[in-house]
Amino acid sequence: MSEARKLHVKSYGCQMNAYDSQRMADLLAGQGFVETAAAETAELVILNTCHIREKAAEKVYSELGRIRKWKDRAAAEGRRMTIAVAGCVAQAEGEEILRRAPLVDIVVGPQNYHRLPALLDRAERGDKPVDTEFAAESKFDAIPPAGGAAIRRRGVAAFVTVQEGCDKFCTFCVVPYTRGAEISRPVEQIIAEVRHLARAGVREVTLIGQNVNAYHGEGPGGRTWTLGRLLRRVAEISGIARVRYFTSHPRDVDDSLVAAHRELGQLMPYLHLPVQSGSDRVLAAMNRRHGRADYLRIVARMREARPDMAFSSDFIVGFPGETEGDFEKTLELVDEIGYAGAFSFKYSPRPGTPAAAMADQVPEPVKNERLARLQAAIERNQAAFNARCLGTTLPVLLEKPGRRPGQLVGRSPYLQPVQIMLPESRIGDIVPVAVTEIGVNSLFGSLAREPSGSDRTAPLLAVGS
Ligand code: 5AD
Ligand code: SF4
Repeated sequence: MSEARKLHVKSYGCQMNAYDSQRMADLLAGQGFVETAAAETAELVILNTCHIREKAAEKVYSELGRIRKWKDRAAAEGRRMTIAVAGCVAQAEGEEILRRAPLVDIVVGPQNYHRLPALLDRAERGDKPVDTEFAAESKFDAIPPAGGAAIRRRGVAAFVTVQEGCDKFCTFCVVPYTRGAEISRPVEQIIAEVRHLARAGVREVTLIGQNVNAYHGEGPGGRTWTLGRLLRRVAEISGIARVRYFTSHPRDVDDSLVAAHRELGQLMPYLHLPVQSGSDRVLAAMNRRHGRADYLRIVARMREARPDMAFSSDFIVGFPGETEGDFEKTLELVDEIGYAGAFSFKYSPRPGTPAAAMADQVPEPVKNERLARLQAAIERNQAAFNARCLGTTLPVLLEKPGRRPGQLVGRSPYLQPVQIMLPESRIGDIVPVAVTEIGVNSLFGSLAREPSGSDRTAPLLAVGS
């Protein structure tokens, strides 16, 4: 019997890429490939790249520098090693990648990876295919859902892409260019995939999309469904105990989404809602199409619907023209919302985006200083949020072995990692955990009294704010 062909996929950037990487592995499993963690011995190495900030994009080239040594060694030993660059750097730079890194064999954009088997054939014949024309057919139709074994390895919480691309054109962002226009997957396709995951033991699904709450997929019978309606349907699927979604845009929060949070026990009370800045002037220059007051109104509506709702956000500091006064408005907003966590970035000019050509670029030292102040404010808010959980009982989905022997780690409804001493047989259960200690990045606790009977998934009372 011939030995399996080895595949190594390295994923950079967002969860959409993580999902795409899994789908590529699923697709290539059909071609006889099995995944390996040891990239240096793989027959095919795929880098699934991110172009969102300059630093992210440059990582690809330093990784390719490392890979060159492995490829040379493979050649010396008479083994073939094929290198594919996929994802958003592939889409944005195309042929340029082959010029900068001649060891690369295949360049494939994020909408075209379902064509990998054909591209591999071409590479084996000595061609160097570059496939970045947005495909007319949908990659989602072309790739069957993963097999059960592959899913089991991926655990009890899974991502499902429901929407991709973006039509918003924030002036700093490459996504509308690299991922293309907004598209939504049809409802039935999503339901089939979630059912498949549930049968393989998945308890929690996160519906993902660059603009997930702009979801407008075709429902059964041809009517267009909103994200709120889709969440309701997904929550009904037997075995699915928890549902999440991200990333959302403030402009697309509608009544059906607010209602879903009010009515669905399975929908976790945690909303990642990027605001980017607390200054209306900067928000307008970013073309965000919402102001500070709009954002605060959404937060208030969500809290009214679900009082324990927690929020997180993305922020950019040092956007062109951002003054100290603008930045202080961002700091004030962080304290006003009381975020449970947030990501913050220094503005990074991206080729081809409007903001890269704007006057008043902010000097690097100013960006560094603002980033440090913002991160301190976010950490303070996060610590306060975590501190409020001390002494409460939270339902925790047990996901995998923890840091110490005998320990498991799971997630609270607010995405906090929770460490607890329990046997591995409990993985996949949702258990009530009395929080006894707050660490830097996780909570610690012990098993609280479980509800009688076998239903361990009933939503429990959680912290109030
Ligand atoms: N510079 C810095 N941060 C950026 N983001 C997107 N584009 C840029 C850029 N050019 C951030 C935004 C977005 C997150 C995914 O990345 O905050 O929400
Ligand atoms: Fe980028 Fe703005 Fe679209 Fe988000 S909404 S992906 S930041 S253009």
